[in-house]
Amino acid sequence: MNIRGISPAAAPVASASPEPAPPAASLPAVAARSLSHGFGELEVLADVSFDVSAGEVVAIVGPSGCGKSTLLELIGGLAEAGGGEISVGGEREAAGRLKRCTWMPQRDLLLPWRRAVDNAALGLRISGASRGRARADAETMLARLGLGAFARSYPGQLSGGMRQRVAFARTLLAGKPVLLLDEPLAALDAITRADLQEWLADTVRDERRTTVLVTHDVEEALYVADRVLLLSPRPATIVWEAASPVARDLPRAAAISEPAFVAARADALGALARASGR
Ligand SMILES: Nc1ncnc2c1ncn2[C@@H]1O[C@H](COP(=O)(O)OP(=O)(O)OP(=O)(O)O)[C@@H](O)[C@H]1O
Ligand SMILES: [Mg+2]
Repeated sequence: MNIRGISPAAAPVASASPEPAPPAASLPAVAARSLSHGFGELEVLADVSFDVSAGEVVAIVGPSGCGKSTLLELIGGLAEAGGGEISVGGEREAAGRLKRCTWMPQRDLLLPWRRAVDNAALGLRISGASRGRARADAETMLARLGLGAFARSYPGQLSGGMRQRVAFARTLLAGKPVLLLDEPLAALDAITRADLQEWLADTVRDERRTTVLVTHDVEEALYVADRVLLLSPRPATIVWEAASPVARDLPRAAAISEPAFVAARADALGALARASGR
């Protein structure tokens, strides 16, 4: 059995020994150092530090309102951090970070008057691709994501899970090296969500793109990502970190029932409860 990652009972970040500086050849794709941010009097992020390696899938989990979307906005260059440093592909300026990241928001934001293929092609059209070229690429991507038969459908004719996959196709087609996924499955019912977790885990691995997945669901984080970071309530800081213990050769239902997965989930939920003072 292919068990990936380290022990689920990984030590809390606070007690981990400092890592030596990485060699230049393996610079992280995303690096945050002592990041802090707030809105007026509201302190949202406090001393957040982490790295994401190129091609790695990292999940960020935390209670509602702790600053997860704010953190994605800072990574993606929508704002400059109030304090500390953040870089994407070595770029520290917001404009440079923006160029390297693409978003998938919680709501699919598809245009209801455009067919799936044209919704998926939107980013390519905006970046200057011809209609024919953008459509051809979008059709290929939709087929890869299992939606070939629905390319000509309108969003209103698709299920919630299908719409999320169209939105994901659009995100992938933007062609950026870093994917920022903000609760992409949160609006789905439990059964569709479980199916799409399996699909998402496979797809991000096939893509081999650096991915930061925000979710409030510990199980989803441990199942989809290579590594999970837990944020405390506001002002948020990282209170727990572990590699996913998922056995990728098992179907989702079996993988999340494995003892290592169950232990990791319990450990993460305990850390979250402690951080919330429960
Ligand atoms: N532009 C803004 N101006 C003022 N306050 C903001 C702004 N954006 C976010 N906030 C506040 O910052 C805090 C963190 O917001 P954020 O959206 O990052 O949380 P979150 O962890 O993504 O929450 P959720 O799980 O509900 O999506 C919240 O209290 C929010 O009200
Ligand atoms: Mg949010």
